[in-house]
Amino acid sequence: MLAIIGGTGLSGLQDFELLETIGLKTPYARAKVRLSRLQSAGKEFLFLPRHGAGHKIPPHQINYRANISALAELGVTEIAAVNAVGAIHDDLFPGSVAVPDQIIDYSYSRDVSFFDGKLKPVHHIDFADPYSETMRLRILSAIEAVGTRKKSSCRIMSSGTYACTQGPRLETAAEIRRLAQDGCDMVGMTGMPEAALARELEIDYASLALSVNWAAGLSEEPILLDDIHAVLEKGMDFISSVLAEVVAQSQGPELKAKVKGAQI
Ligand code: HPA
Repeated sequence: MLAIIGGTGLSGLQDFELLETIGLKTPYARAKVRLSRLQSAGKEFLFLPRHGAGHKIPPHQINYRANISALAELGVTEIAAVNAVGAIHDDLFPGSVAVPDQIIDYSYSRDVSFFDGKLKPVHHIDFADPYSETMRLRILSAIEAVGTRKKSSCRIMSSGTYACTQGPRLETAAEIRRLAQDGCDMVGMTGMPEAALARELEIDYASLALSVNWAAGLSEEPILLDDIHAVLEKGMDFISSVLAEVVAQSQGPELKAKVKGAQI
């Protein structure tokens, strides 16, 4: 079963029918997941807004373990995650999208593992390639299909390194210079530990990143939230279409039985 994790600017999916909101009690916290349907393709999937309904949870306070364990509990085997990012690479103009293939994690003080020696024994996963290549290719082919259909001139970066910072503040110009020297192409606050937790539970996970601003110090202009929101609003139309394509290509609804049996 496919799940979409929505980020800033994507706390709901207008084009999809909401079938049911499922509340789950996980060992970490409660989580709410929306069972949704893409009507045109008759495909069901789960949607989880990572900042909560109404975008009330900042990146450093998201309970990533509750979210990922709730999805796993519902039988999720693949996740397309949406992340808003600041652009570091010259080609990643605000409004363009990227499907990163690497991560550097600069976040701290987050619960980063299920294998903490309490509920699960200590264990070290292979994370050399942090994203699922299968899922990355599915997202990329969905981008291509939508781009062709819409004759979109949206720029695409088909790989790149995602820097995860702690937030909620944006970075200093010096921090961005360091990230650039480290080889980072984009910066966001929510990519980790989400990707690692998904890998720990053997869920295929990849990110669809929307560039919403030039990272700190890379533009003459200050970073204004109003500008970010304007780019988000414009870009989310394309993102929603890409997600619809990913859902349309997904396995579909044999998941319902599992959802029905879930703890509400
Ligand atoms: N930095 C960190 N996270 C972000 C940014 C940024 O510039 N833009 C959107 N998310």
